[in-house]
Amino acid sequence: MKTEDTITGFDWKYSAAPEAKDHIKLKSQYDLFINGNFVKPNSKKYFATYNPATEEKLAEVAQANAKDVDIAVAAAKNAYDKVWKKMPAKERAKYIFRIARVIQERARELAVIESMDGGKPIRESRDFDVPTAANHFFYYAGWADKLEYAFPNRHPQSLGIAAQIIPWNFPLLMAAWKIAPALATGNTVVLKPAENTPLTALKLAEIIQECELPAGVVNIITGFGDTGAAMVAHPNVNKIAFTGSTDVGKIIQKAIAGTNKKATLELGGKAANIVFDDAPINQAVEGIVNGIFFNQGHVCCAGSRLFVQESVATEVIQKLKARMETLIVGDPLDKNTDIGAINSKEQLDKINDYLKIGSKEGLELFQTSAAIPKKGFYCKPTLFIGAAQSNRVVQEEIFGPVLTIQTFRTIEEVIEKANNIPYGLSAGVWTDKGSKIFNLTSKLRAGVIWANTYNKFDPSSPFGGYKESGFGREGGLHGLMPYLKF
Ligand code: NAI
Ligand code: MG
Repeated sequence: MKTEDTITGFDWKYSAAPEAKDHIKLKSQYDLFINGNFVKPNSKKYFATYNPATEEKLAEVAQANAKDVDIAVAAAKNAYDKVWKKMPAKERAKYIFRIARVIQERARELAVIESMDGGKPIRESRDFDVPTAANHFFYYAGWADKLEYAFPNRHPQSLGIAAQIIPWNFPLLMAAWKIAPALATGNTVVLKPAENTPLTALKLAEIIQECELPAGVVNIITGFGDTGAAMVAHPNVNKIAFTGSTDVGKIIQKAIAGTNKKATLELGGKAANIVFDDAPINQAVEGIVNGIFFNQGHVCCAGSRLFVQESVATEVIQKLKARMETLIVGDPLDKNTDIGAINSKEQLDKINDYLKIGSKEGLELFQTSAAIPKKGFYCKPTLFIGAAQSNRVVQEEIFGPVLTIQTFRTIEEVIEKANNIPYGLSAGVWTDKGSKIFNLTSKLRAGVIWANTYNKFDPSSPFGGYKESGFGREGGLHGLMPYLKF
């Protein structure tokens, strides 16, 4: 395969353009953010977070135990009862707005730390994660004093204390998705970032302190799954918001069965990205690449199953391969990088296992020819061509830059295949015909469906799944509801 880009017609190499990191000041050790202060953990234990691109240790963070969770929940409850619940909504809004502004002010620092801690390309963290996180705070700041208009005659009331547990793929953005609507609706928060990527959430804790949010309204604690489980089990928690694996989502649902706790679960996905023969093919190829390869496929809504109408399959696959050859895999801090590091050794092992599984299933494997860095955790963008519905690589979430390709003839066939999966988070449709789009969007069992685009996000637009992808919606007016009772 030539490296020449058959779509845009250029064939030249970029020089390295590394983002500076000399302005980044990380402490060697981070404590728990509870009741407005950074406090030492009762466990007296700390664990390391690494840069997956270099395997270097970045910092140590506190490991909260059940006692620490208890203290954080008590701080949140105290702040809820004494301050936040009583505060006029328009005053609450000012704090949320202030957080958004400081995120913007510190955008560069946050983006660089996000890429260092999680391995995602700086282009992604700089142009998507951080600005979208700020936008979420801006957006929900606007709703805080308009809840009566959002839900007329329904007298919305806050729930109390929200325990929020987030994953490693969008650390700051997921924190914003969780915290902003909770605060706007008058709840207080205990949030736990993922153990692999705690640093931007801890920076957000610094920002929250700088914004002089009343003590205890937002508490940010770090730890592993047992910390999360203690948060879920705590009797004074009223609401659980979780994003992560379907396995842990199921554990949480069992743990709260029979309690009054409300929950929203945003879990895995295995989205169908469907290309019809009347689609603008070059645009679709770009959308396929954006849907699965950017951000290493570490996206729950990633377009990981490609369906191409048979008559254009050869053309689409040929153009896709050519475009893939131009993708730059490497240093996340290089501004030209398209695909950064896989988030952890465990995740890379999981992806590599699936590469073996797909090959054993007899599928044609295509990987790009460019070399990947020797140090750090990397995976080349990969295709499994000639996949079938029964293949494990089609049915199971891989969470890496791996795309399966299936062909179809009729619209009925592709709807059947797209839906025949345990997940239902998102989908994409590429066609010139509006009627086909509307037909499909009404029949695909997915929470979000993009037409002639992919992975587009906006704070005003709700996001969430069907089936094993979870329930509840985040974003938009819908995203307020899980934090309210009527
Ligand atoms: P995970 O679901 O174990 O971790 C997500 C969060 O839940 C982390 O903060 C973790 O500390 C916490 N957690 C773990 N066990 C818990 C428990 N029993 N109770 C409460 N909280 C708990 O995800 P993991 O292991 O990092 O990734 C495994 C797979 O999950 C990935 O390969 C991918 O397929 C999927 N995943 C999906 C995500 C999504 O956005 N839907 C995000 C991350 C992973
Ligand atoms: Mg890390």
